[in-house]
Amino acid sequence: MAEIGTNIEVAASFLKVKDLVGIPTETVYGLAGNALDEEAILKIYETKERPQFDPLIAHVDTREKLDRLVEEIPEKARELMDRFWPGPLTLLLKKSDRVPDLLTSGLDRIAVRVPDHSITLSLLAELDFPLAAPSANPFGYVSPTTALHVSDQLGSKIPYILDGGPCRVGLESTIVGFSDHGTPVIHRLGGIGIEDIQEVVGSVDLEINVSSDPKAPGMLKSHYAPGKKIIIGDIEKNLALLTSEKPGVISFDKSYEVADRNLFILSPDGRLEEAARNIFAALRKMDKEEIDVILAEYVPEEGLGKAINDRLKRAAAI
Ligand code: TXA
Ligand code: MG
Repeated sequence: MAEIGTNIEVAASFLKVKDLVGIPTETVYGLAGNALDEEAILKIYETKERPQFDPLIAHVDTREKLDRLVEEIPEKARELMDRFWPGPLTLLLKKSDRVPDLLTSGLDRIAVRVPDHSITLSLLAELDFPLAAPSANPFGYVSPTTALHVSDQLGSKIPYILDGGPCRVGLESTIVGFSDHGTPVIHRLGGIGIEDIQEVVGSVDLEINVSSDPKAPGMLKSHYAPGKKIIIGDIEKNLALLTSEKPGVISFDKSYEVADRNLFILSPDGRLEEAARNIFAALRKMDKEEIDVILAEYVPEEGLGKAINDRLKRAAAI
């Protein structure tokens, strides 16, 4: 079973011998390994049971280390880095030859970001290689936002989990690529709102694929899925429609007539940041309760709300 601890030296020593370590970031916990080593990368795919057509994000702590991984950096990418790094923004940039094809699933762009978590930044500073880190959950399941979440599912497969407390953002990074003309293209909604990105670089394109097509990596229709059925919509009405099924409720800010333990209010004050922080923990909790169906509702479709609703939709998709 993985040890959960806060020892950066121990984490670094495992990573240096190609082992995997659970690491905290501000978004979600990652399953980290040496991003330049094929053996470590393969372990990540195996441990997550993730198909190799779904590429991994590389994490670095400095621009110098980034420069070794990429061929060129478009002007608007630079502006976004200046504004949002360290932070929940992943950029797709043309990769250098140093980067193994296995990391990018053969694509010519690498996904990179500088995470905003002091423990993981210290860890990266100890290492002379970047860390590949997908979310530390089995493929298709809800992302982990605490060390215990990681331990619950992957604890038997990895030696160590660095505990950095609950994740501050709670949703994965926003992924931005660039067209041939340098126009920013958002590929995944996440911890930074579209509006905030537009404020820096002007208009952006959206290419968020909602399909079951494996050619669109990671953007699968069904993702973030707990084991239980989820129905999204007017909770009051859906409660009334249930006959024999026992419900759990995930609401945005209101309370409903179900047993306390089967109710998770994402943010009693109606704050989207708080809802984002709680959404994955709420799905995990409901998955463990003795209920038959999860009734949830969309949050306001603005700022982080768009990313929360995206996760809910994928969690409910079959
Ligand atoms: O916040 C995050 O981004 C977290 C933390 C741990 O950093 N990581 C994360 O990784 O969410 P993962 O593997 O669960 O999701 C990464 C997404 C996948 O949908 C993958 O398909 C996409 O990024 N991706 C990675 N490399 C790519 C590439 N070269 N081109 C296109 N998409 C890529
Ligand atoms: Mg993931």
